Amino acid sequence: MSSNFTQVENPVLVVEGKQADNERLKAESDYLRGTIKEDLQDRMTGGFTSDNFQLIRTHGMYQQDDRDIRAERQKQKLEPLHNVMLRARLPGGIINPTQWLAIDKFADDYTSYGSIRLTTRQTFQFHGVLKPNIKLMHQTLNSVGLDSIATAGDVNRNVLCTSNPVESTLHQEAYEWATKISEHLLPKTRAYAEIWLDEEKVETTEADEIEPILGSNYLPRKFKTTVVIPPNNDIDVHANDLNFVAISEGGELIGFNVLVGGGLAMTHGDKATYPRCADDFGFIPKEHTLAIAEAVVTTQRDWGNRVNRKNAKTKYTLDRVGADTFKAEVERRAGIEFSESRSYEFTHRGDSFGWVEGIDGKNHLTLFIENGRILDFNDANSGSKALKTGMREIAKIHKGDFRLTANQNLIVAGVSAEDKAIIEQLAREHGLINDGVSNQRKSSMACVAFPTCPLAMAEAERYLPGLVDDVEAILEKNGLKDDSIILRVTGCPNGCGRAMLAEIGLVGKGPGKYNMYLGSDLAGSRVPKLYKENVDEAGVLSEIDALSARWSAERNDGEAFGDFVIRAGIVEQVIVSFRDFHHA
Ligand code: HEM
Ligand code: SF4
Repeated sequence: MSSNFTQVENPVLVVEGKQADNERLKAESDYLRGTIKEDLQDRMTGGFTSDNFQLIRTHGMYQQDDRDIRAERQKQKLEPLHNVMLRARLPGGIINPTQWLAIDKFADDYTSYGSIRLTTRQTFQFHGVLKPNIKLMHQTLNSVGLDSIATAGDVNRNVLCTSNPVESTLHQEAYEWATKISEHLLPKTRAYAEIWLDEEKVETTEADEIEPILGSNYLPRKFKTTVVIPPNNDIDVHANDLNFVAISEGGELIGFNVLVGGGLAMTHGDKATYPRCADDFGFIPKEHTLAIAEAVVTTQRDWGNRVNRKNAKTKYTLDRVGADTFKAEVERRAGIEFSESRSYEFTHRGDSFGWVEGIDGKNHLTLFIENGRILDFNDANSGSKALKTGMREIAKIHKGDFRLTANQNLIVAGVSAEDKAIIEQLAREHGLINDGVSNQRKSSMACVAFPTCPLAMAEAERYLPGLVDDVEAILEKNGLKDDSIILRVTGCPNGCGRAMLAEIGLVGKGPGKYNMYLGSDLAGSRVPKLYKENVDEAGVLSEIDALSARWSAERNDGEAFGDFVIRAGIVEQVIVSFRDFHHA
């Protein structure tokens, strides 16, 4: 197995040179405190100043402004309308009805978009919270047992877990591991509690080891962890730094295969950046989970590139030092050896909608939420839907919990037989169940992009619904009405909508322009390959028309679109070395 790994002779374990400025700001931050507290009092600006602008990320917030009105405000000589986006920490995406009702009310009362956004990393975001309301937001979350610690910045972020309500005993245990990993790897600093929850500062001395795992400079870059239950790869292991693949025997969890070094982000035109699949290090019994998680994180902490942030993620560390060297170091630190990987298979990544009965006899209803946007709306094109009200009405009577999926959908989980009818009725009445949603729409996904994301180069969330209308018509014309293609759009190459694991991935290049990638598979084990650059919206449609017509006419029995484009030689397959991603 290990002979398949990248081999590197005389590896450079630590990259020397002038450290990135983020290293200075973490070091000087007094364990993520900075001067955020003082800044909060400053009402001359709606934003955060100097280092605090970055430091608030480690507390789960990004400073943003509405890009649709930026130019207008500039004309009026006003500063951009600063606000924050908050991302909660929700290991495994599980939230209970009391918590739901609290976030629903906060979204109504204090966010400028009035929505709850379910994200591709199984949590929710509030968009558009103004500075005077930020503390209240954290205190509201805290009052119902939630927080947003370490959901952004150079730390281990929200830990994902497959949303699998069917095998519920296994899911329960996998979910518990996701929570334990999340807690084990959290920053230990009390900065969050002091700043947002007004807890008193406890004096620490030099000798106190405040961050035994993350270190005083935290990690070189963001770090993402998952627990996944085959055959569903809904969380997309290859988009994450560290993955625990659940291995069960007779329905009992016995341990995990550990996959390290996945990641999707790249920069247009910079060939030193590339998406990379994770390597399988081997199997560990479940009791070693936390020790291995810690060893992977500390190895990346010590060997990750702190000079160049564009090459700082675990995927680049693995390629620089060699996966064998990285793995041996993890074994040394944990005092545990990986054994041969156990066999498992991923077959799909999508959610199954509608009701299923779990092995515990409880019922689970998966709802399709377009773009993960929970909002009441009324517009000329899509009619009116009261999704947010519907969820609130369900939360008022629901006795189980809710599970956010990594595909931006939502499961009403643990419904007793008696409550099934009323929950379904509420969901239908408020547009949360729509039997007419096509397979294509269910297989499509987009990141947020405009108007809130400062990095967006092209539309994504707002572009997707109309794009899917057109793709549906094309598929129908080509005799593919019930077929679907995994279609994902991101507003820039950072990859938040996981386009680099799609059968058709559209990656924003500029306003109305996308780079088109083709060829991932249903299991998500392959990175797609660049097919056309700078395609406009009309071009996207004509390409999809031509490609799907060929797929319809030439495919083998049951052949998926991504497999077809490779077999037909439309794009080459990227497999072995991801350094060759740009060239192969
Ligand atoms: C250098 C790489 C990246 C940067 C700088 C970045 C930055 C951002 C920013 C600024 C947002 C906020 C957008 C908004 O809500 O207005 C965002 C959202 C998000 N990002 Fe990233 N991101 C990166 C890569 C990724 C990757 C590879 C993933 C997952 C595979 C990811 C997952 C998410 C998720 C789940 C959201 C929330 C919104 C959504 O569901 O689309 N990010 N990111
Ligand atoms: S992919 Fe780019 S545009 Fe989309 S949310 Fe992420 S950073 Fe923003």
